[in-house]
Amino acid sequence: VKTAHVVFTPSGKHGDFPIGTPILQAARQLGVDIDSVCGGRGICGRCQVVPSVGDFSKFKIKSRAENLSEPSAPELRYKEKRGLKEGRRLGCSTFIEGDLVIDVPADSQVHKQVVRKRAEVRAIEINPITTLHYIEVEEPDMHHPSGDLERVQQALKEQWDITVDETDLHVLHTLQKNLRKGEWKVTAAIRNGHHLVYIWPGFHERAFGCAIDVGSTTMSVHLTDLRTGDVVTSVGAMNPQIRFGEDLMSRVSYVMMNPGGDAEMTAAVRETLGYLINQASTEAQVAPTEIMELVLVGNPIMHHLILGIDPTELGWAPFALATNQALRITAAELDLKGKTNPGARAFFLPCVAGHVGADAAAVVLAEGPQYRDEVTLVVDVGTNAEIVLGNKDRLLACSSPTGPALEGAQISSGQRAAPGAIERVRIDPTTLEPRFRVIGTDLWSDDPGFPDAVKKIGVTGICGSGIIEVLAEMFLAGVITEDGIIDGSLADRTDRIVPEGRTFSYILNRGEPEIRVTQADVRAIQLAKAALYAGAQLLIDKFGKPVERVVLAGAFGSHIDSKYAMVLGLIPDCPLDMVASVGNAAGTGARIALLNKKARNEIKEIVTHIEKIETAVEPRFQEHFVGAMAFPHKTAPFPNLAS
Ligand code: FES
Repeated sequence: VKTAHVVFTPSGKHGDFPIGTPILQAARQLGVDIDSVCGGRGICGRCQVVPSVGDFSKFKIKSRAENLSEPSAPELRYKEKRGLKEGRRLGCSTFIEGDLVIDVPADSQVHKQVVRKRAEVRAIEINPITTLHYIEVEEPDMHHPSGDLERVQQALKEQWDITVDETDLHVLHTLQKNLRKGEWKVTAAIRNGHHLVYIWPGFHERAFGCAIDVGSTTMSVHLTDLRTGDVVTSVGAMNPQIRFGEDLMSRVSYVMMNPGGDAEMTAAVRETLGYLINQASTEAQVAPTEIMELVLVGNPIMHHLILGIDPTELGWAPFALATNQALRITAAELDLKGKTNPGARAFFLPCVAGHVGADAAAVVLAEGPQYRDEVTLVVDVGTNAEIVLGNKDRLLACSSPTGPALEGAQISSGQRAAPGAIERVRIDPTTLEPRFRVIGTDLWSDDPGFPDAVKKIGVTGICGSGIIEVLAEMFLAGVITEDGIIDGSLADRTDRIVPEGRTFSYILNRGEPEIRVTQADVRAIQLAKAALYAGAQLLIDKFGKPVERVVLAGAFGSHIDSKYAMVLGLIPDCPLDMVASVGNAAGTGARIALLNKKARNEIKEIVTHIEKIETAVEPRFQEHFVGAMAFPHKTAPFPNLAS
């Protein structure tokens, strides 16, 4: 037989093939990564390739247009129905007629990389656990009696080399109808390469998943296309458990005081989850049956409550989890029947320790401190701060009871980061007059256009990043002493400082409502930041090396200005340009586990190696805590601040 030499780019894989071999088949034989749902029938269009024409001396071949067959009937049909970009060919319906260089564009690769916004983090490689496979099934025959499922399995084996050894019962409930409806052509959803979880009549090519972050305050669902990795829509809601208690411990006490309270909370949070998934799929016009996978992250208490496990043991030492392993359950077990595909599975990332949850594991997955040389401190600020420190040699983790002050709660004028919230503050050190900016406008309060700009939204309160800035600016302007006292002696210099009981307050905005910073506010932040700092310092002591890089995660972390975080001593000293605010890293970690099945094993493995530090039993925690009450710190030097 006459053969031709074919080179695939970008992989560089190459080989000799008989004239007339389909490009897709050649690619498969060489192990070139190229997608297909229809199995080479010219239906799905996933196998698109671009022939490169010219002299390729490094491959010692000349690739010419006529070395590729003319468009075949399936390709013409596809082109007419769905369109084909200039220069593109269907790999399954195009044949080798001579030497060729064939480029497989990124969108035709299964394992494409989703590049992330920040340059220093790894791209996400798409490698979903559920894959779709179109098959043509033999019709039943009196002479060769066999079941419909057996013939589906046979088709999967012959057409895709997939051996099915597990089938969900619900598949059988609709199998016979679906086969006949699709005229013996169906699409199978296969989990993990062997498990049949769903059958669509005819050709079906869309599959989605949800990355779910069950935070103490808010819950969010990111509906994601499992093929492209794109988040098609994100929705969020307040965690309904708030009505059982603002912070986590009060929710645990609710369970302790009210028999059956855990079931109530489980029902509430599951109901909200179902509602959010519904909202996301409606918004994005995705059918519930197209949602095949869920990945959940959350702190240990949320983890237990959403799974329907009594969290009481997490309320006292030694803070024993029911399990810290990763869990795989069905979506139906989370009461999501009808909201997702009946075969959908939910994966819960592993918890790190009794206080350090699956959300921290997700942050580690997203940020990858374990792959870096420099010592990275990752702080996820919520009602508890979850802190991870380390590098490629070692990872340590602890949690620290910061309370909700850093999220704007327990602050007299505190509010969530929403339009109307003060988020940026500057104070003139001479006049002590403030200027600020609120979420929802780009103007500063001393800009002539400001009153008009905030007419509708109003100036309603201070969010987490705003409280950090106003305190840091008050400290820099000398309004607050190192010990965190609002200096009343300045009252004769400015009418912004006013007595309030036996202490003083600073009026940040005169208006309706008046926004002031009270001594109690300063105390609440001092306690929170001291807890955060002490936790971080404890890990640094154990690690024995200074921090070289800080990553602030969480909704709070995404708005915070690193300079001000350091002025207050919220984080240990380190070069300012090495402090990054990364936003919802737990959500990103969940998305990685959703898109890449290997990442699930990776995080399971990493978590087993994380050294857990329990701050409650560490005597030095208290010592660090006391020192860290001062701004920025009583004893620790902050050389990077001076410069
Ligand atoms: Fe589906 Fe080529 S493999 S169109």
